Amino acid sequence: MSTAPLMIEQEKIVVLDLGSAHNQLITRTIRELGVYSELHPHTVTAAEVKNMQAVGIILSGGSKDAEFNIDPEVFNLGIPVLEIGSKGETIASANEEKHAYGEQSHPEVGQPADVKEMLRHFAFEICKAKDSWTMKSFIDVEVEKIRSQVGDRKVLCALSGGVDSSVVAALIHRAIGDQLTCIFVDHGLLRKGEVESVVDTFSNQFHMNFIKVDARKRFLDKLKGVTDPEQKRKIIGSEFIYVFDEESAKLEGIDFLAQGTIYADIIESGTATNEVIKSHHNVGGLPEDMDFELIEPLKALFKDEVRAVGAELGLPSDIVHRQPFPGPGLGVRVLGEITEEKLDIVREADWILREEIAKAGLDREIWQYFAILPDIRSVGVRNEKRSYDYAVGLRAVHSVDGMTADWARIPWDILEKISTRITAEVDHVNRVVYDITAKPPGTIEWE
Ligand code: XMP
Repeated sequence: MSTAPLMIEQEKIVVLDLGSAHNQLITRTIRELGVYSELHPHTVTAAEVKNMQAVGIILSGGSKDAEFNIDPEVFNLGIPVLEIGSKGETIASANEEKHAYGEQSHPEVGQPADVKEMLRHFAFEICKAKDSWTMKSFIDVEVEKIRSQVGDRKVLCALSGGVDSSVVAALIHRAIGDQLTCIFVDHGLLRKGEVESVVDTFSNQFHMNFIKVDARKRFLDKLKGVTDPEQKRKIIGSEFIYVFDEESAKLEGIDFLAQGTIYADIIESGTATNEVIKSHHNVGGLPEDMDFELIEPLKALFKDEVRAVGAELGLPSDIVHRQPFPGPGLGVRVLGEITEEKLDIVREADWILREEIAKAGLDREIWQYFAILPDIRSVGVRNEKRSYDYAVGLRAVHSVDGMTADWARIPWDILEKISTRITAEVDHVNRVVYDITAKPPGTIEWE
C-alpha cells in the first residue's frame, strides 16, 4: 500500500510500521492516554510526517530491512523519535543529537503497564503532547466536518444493525438531521430481537428518515434448495446489493453514501509490511459503480473508540456492545438448506444462550457466542417416547481480532443450564453440543 491517507488533522504521535506485531497496540495505547495517534507505513516521507502535525514519531518493529527505507529526513524534523525494537524489548533514541530520548530500561510489550508508562513518558515528557483526544472532542470536530462537507445535500446510509453502521448513522444524524436517510434491509437472517431493536432505536428514538425493507421472503426464495456454503454467501451478498440498489433508486437527490469503515479495516487492508489478512465478503459491501461520494467518518477509530462514540451519542447499550455478527447472518449458522423452521430453531436457541451468558455476567468477556444448527438429527427420549430431532451446536470464543480464537471455558453449570433450557424450550431440539475447537484449525463460524 502506498501512504495511508491522512486521517485526522490534529496534533498526533505518528507510529511508523516497521513490521512489529504490536504496532496497533502501541497506537491504541497512546490514544488511551488521551493523545491522538496514527499508524503509517514506514515509507512515508519526512514532508508527509511534518504535514501530519506530528509531535512525536515511533518506529515500531526495528526490522533492519525496513529501517533502511525510512526517509532519513524524518530524523531531521526536530520531532522526537522513539524506537521500539522488534520484540518490543529495547527502546532508544534514533535521534540522539537532536532529541535524545536515550537508552531506557527494557520493557517487554508483554507487560502492558510498563509499555503504557514508557509511552506516557514519551508522549508527555518528551513530546509535550496535550491530552486532548476524547470521544466528545472527536464528535464535535466530525460534526463540523460533516456539515461543511455535505452542506445542504443528502446522505444515504445502509444500516445493518451492527455497531459500525449504527454509530455512523447516529453521528451523521447529529450533524445533518433529516438530510440523512437510512435503509435497513431485513433479510430474515438476523437474530431474535435485532430487527425490533434497530427499528426502535433509529425510527422511534432518533426519529431518523428510516426505511425498513422487508426482504425476508425474497432472500428465502433465492436460498431455497441451496446447500453449498460459498453459494449461500454469494446469493445473500448479491441479493443485498440488488435490494439496496432498488430502494436507493427510489430516492431522489442523494449525493453521499455513508460507510462504517473503521481504522482496523484500513490497517488490515495492508500497510507496506502488513499483508492483507481479511477478505471476508461483507454484505454491507456496495456496488462500485454507484454514483455517490463516500463519507467515512469513523475511519480513524479503533473498535472500542467506535463503541465509546456510540454511547456518547446516546445509542442503547445492546447496539453499542453488540458482538461481531457476520454479514450473511444466520445464513452461515444454519448448515445445509436454509428454511424458516430451521431459522426459528437457531434463533430461539441463540436467544437462550445470549440470555444465560448475560445473566452470568460473561457477555462483555466473551468475544462471540452463538448457536448453530447443523444439518443433523439424532435419537433422543422425551416423556418416555423416542424422538428424532435436531442437535444444536453452541460456540463461544475469545479473540482479539477474529483472526485466531480460543474456545471459551464457560463454567459447566452455566452450560448445563443453557442445554437444559434449549432442550426444554425449543421445539425439535433434543441434543446440545459445545464446540471446543480453537481457530485454527477451526474457524469461528461453521460455514
Ligand atoms: P471465521 O468464521 O472466518 O470468522 O473464523 C472470523 C470473524 O469474521 C466474522 N465473519 C464475517 N463477517 N462477513 C462479515 O462481515 C462475513 O461474511 C463473515 N464471515 C465470518 C465471524 O463472525 C468472526 O467474527
